[in-house]
Amino acid sequence: MISSERDARVRQLYEQLVEIEQRMIPTGLHVFGRAAELKEKADLLRVVASFDRPEHGARSLSRLVAEGLRITGYEQLMQEASPSETKQLIDTIVRESVGRFCDAGGAVAVEYLIDRANVDREEAVTTFGVLTNISEQLDSNHEMESLARSLRGEYIQPGPGADIIQNPSVLPTGRNTHAVNPYSVPARAAFARAKQTTEALLRRHLEEHGRYPRAMALVLWGLDNIKTQGEGVAQALWLLGVRPVRDALNRATEIEIIPLAELNRPRMDVVMTVSGIFRDLFAPTMALLDKAVRRVAELDEPLEMNYVRRNVLEHRNATAAGFDDAITRVFSNAPGNYGTNVNFMVMQSEWKDAASLGDLFVTRKSFAYTRDSQGRVIEGREAPELMNDALSRVEATYQNIDSFEVGITDVDHYFEYLGGISKAVETRTQSRPAIYLSDSLSPQTKIRSLEETVRLETRTKTLNPKWYEGMLQHGFRGVAEIENHVANTFGWSATADAVDPWIYTEISNTFLLDDAMLERLSQLNPHSVQSLARRLLEAHERGYWNPDEHVLEKLREVIVKLEEKLTRVRAAEV
Ligand code: BEZ
Ligand code: MG
Repeated sequence: MISSERDARVRQLYEQLVEIEQRMIPTGLHVFGRAAELKEKADLLRVVASFDRPEHGARSLSRLVAEGLRITGYEQLMQEASPSETKQLIDTIVRESVGRFCDAGGAVAVEYLIDRANVDREEAVTTFGVLTNISEQLDSNHEMESLARSLRGEYIQPGPGADIIQNPSVLPTGRNTHAVNPYSVPARAAFARAKQTTEALLRRHLEEHGRYPRAMALVLWGLDNIKTQGEGVAQALWLLGVRPVRDALNRATEIEIIPLAELNRPRMDVVMTVSGIFRDLFAPTMALLDKAVRRVAELDEPLEMNYVRRNVLEHRNATAAGFDDAITRVFSNAPGNYGTNVNFMVMQSEWKDAASLGDLFVTRKSFAYTRDSQGRVIEGREAPELMNDALSRVEATYQNIDSFEVGITDVDHYFEYLGGISKAVETRTQSRPAIYLSDSLSPQTKIRSLEETVRLETRTKTLNPKWYEGMLQHGFRGVAEIENHVANTFGWSATADAVDPWIYTEISNTFLLDDAMLERLSQLNPHSVQSLARRLLEAHERGYWNPDEHVLEKLREVIVKLEEKLTRVRAAEV
């Protein structure tokens, strides 16, 4: 290997290590009514302090340090993915100041920043004032009290729904979570952020495939769009090349076309599958998205610059579809229904071939929410033929990940949605789409492929001793969580073939082939250990990994031994 190649490889490895190291991961579970015993409070506060908080007139610690040290080009520096000495210097000072804050309080931290980095006193006091508030609220908990109040039918204070990093005013917990006014979505800030994410997404596709995707499929969730005030929605609008326009009552009900000269790229065609929760919360937003597609399809623009128009024409030339049908892009469940059921099929191992998972997704999610040319509302008309047609042109699927708290292997919903639609696309196009996720919270608005995200989640959670030991503190439930993560990881094999075989190997090595660990887990929760072993065997049977025979033997042995143990337990109970 020539030395420049070697240097590049070492640098790449270093960047990956930094990425894993800097990732915020929740350790352990929340216990209702108990204040967070945060061993990682300093880590959490540091991430909170890495964002400007204009609502409190507070700026991020790293920005204050950079200014104090007279470092120029701060914005540019933060956008860079690769580490640099300057960035490390800022990071070290910020880390130290938050450490001192946790040990000795705000005043000490402020003095440190002034001494070490010449930070403006007033600004430092403001930022640590915000951190002091958050820190105090983390130490208190009103959940039990609020539960009792609610059972007595008494008033409960409202509070916004988000995670602590996005919006620290979610604290204290134990309040009545309220959402957003759907007409305010997307918020201006969300629309501005979405531009960067969308550009990064298209850039990545262009780099990997040499052109833009013919069409894309997006997953939109309700809770995500509450937390981000509509970042996912804003991304869809950017892809189409339109911006929301507010009416006299400040409601986002209209759209404005961004001229091609300003957009500087073709308008993307996007198929949007929205969750049942989104449908229930964001009816005006669905109308806005539908209107955006219609308006873009009507534009008199060259086909190579307007993929919606191109695809709509193609659809109409190939079938008898009218314009109203051919522009249908917003799909959800039948009214009153939720979810794709793909997760249940996978969890219960009740599927013959992967194509059936994609078909199930379409069966559940192919209800069109649109308006006809007369503006009459169509709410949930079953239209699998229209969805199939739209999906048959998709080359990339995408979902916005907005939270530090819940990642793609924490719950089964990511693979049921993004995995489900990707499989549906694959069987309809005979080609696996590129599958992307964003990490819109990181300052660099990173886009990752699904495979990269699965690897990152596996390294930072499932295989990370810090994560699983945190879970094991919770005994029975903790083992169930580990098993859940493995099952959710398996879901990404089933729907999207996105899990490297080494991941299954390392999971077996860590949890089942290590005798001491196996014993510990089996004591805490033999049921989940048995399911874990069964899942790994299923992964082998379905061709996702091919371990040595002695590994398979061991897995089978674990299942049999635990079955004997569980039988004895059941017998003892009767
Ligand atoms: C949603 O927020 O829309 C959602 C939440 C959980 C599962 C699926 C969707
Ligand atoms: Mg659930």
